[in-house]
Amino acid sequence: MIVLGIESSCDETGLAIFDEDKGLMDQIVSSQQHIHANFGGVVPELASRDHVSKFVPLLENLLSKNQLSLNNIELIAYTNGPGLMGPLLTGAAFAKTLAWSLGIKSIEINHLEAHIFSPMITESELKPPFLSLLVSGGHTILSSINSKLTHNILGQTLDDSVGEVFDKVARNLGLSYPGGPEISKFSSKTTNSSFKFPRPMLKSNNYNFSFSGLKTHVINQIKKQELTDSIISEISFEFENSISDVLITKTLNAAATTNINNIVISGGVSANKRLRERFNKEKNKDISIFFPDLAFSTDNGAMIAYLGNLKYKKGEYDNSLYIEPNPSLSL
Ligand code: KG4
Ligand code: ZN
Repeated sequence: MIVLGIESSCDETGLAIFDEDKGLMDQIVSSQQHIHANFGGVVPELASRDHVSKFVPLLENLLSKNQLSLNNIELIAYTNGPGLMGPLLTGAAFAKTLAWSLGIKSIEINHLEAHIFSPMITESELKPPFLSLLVSGGHTILSSINSKLTHNILGQTLDDSVGEVFDKVARNLGLSYPGGPEISKFSSKTTNSSFKFPRPMLKSNNYNFSFSGLKTHVINQIKKQELTDSIISEISFEFENSISDVLITKTLNAAATTNINNIVISGGVSANKRLRERFNKEKNKDISIFFPDLAFSTDNGAMIAYLGNLKYKKGEYDNSLYIEPNPSLSL
């Protein structure tokens, strides 16, 4: 079976073709970062308009590159939430209309679940149960995933998500949006820092997180500085270490308590080089660590097509023409 995946929850238009037998065939991601960069965040109306103008050319390109035609597509999986209402609506309308015109089925995908399973696109030995740390622009959730692909939330952020804090700190450092990759670039230029930031809730007796206090602390420190490249690097370095300490400690505690030894880290922030390096240092004979391929860390259509295929095999699909994206869909 050949599945077309469509992602349009925020500022990336992602399309992908997944073949049940051969695995992922190809994907295309068109990023709108240049459109939103001057605004310091995503402008929903501009995002919607750009998605609408990209779907057809990206699909034509993807099909022709892979010697496929529209008639080869047998299922369309699309992001139904969470995300921005306008962008979600464009993807849902495109997916349902195309499925109806081709006489094939479509399936709604929860963007958060798609991130969680994204490492399985390339890690053939990875199967649930596993422990999942989802760190994206909108969410920070620690959960356990069982063999039936359902989840149990162990903890989550009580305020800001990790991605949000990366973006806000970057903005205060005068760096462009999205902030994560910019902070990572500066942090990699140093191997130490004269700054010392808090490790929020590190010792709390639960799996929840809180990052808004850290954000305020770092921004207050930034305001006291004459920002040179080397100061930006030192702040970025200590900021990444503070975030990494909290995420790694809590995740390892959860692994020990739940006795689940496969740890999966996904979502946009999982692209972070230092977070990857530091988590990978925790690998040992008992603990395995999995990250998605970098191409599937930030928003993409491959993870939507992959989960669409998994869910279809479980008998989940949608025959109606009703469209109901949910911007605040939860896990
Ligand atoms: O998963 P994602 O693409 O979109 C959401 O579902 O929210 O995550 C976007 C977030 C942004 O906050 C961005 O700054 C962050 O992921 N991000 C990074 C890196 N690349 C993207 N954060 C840290 N390091 C990176 N290399
Ligand atoms: Zn995402």
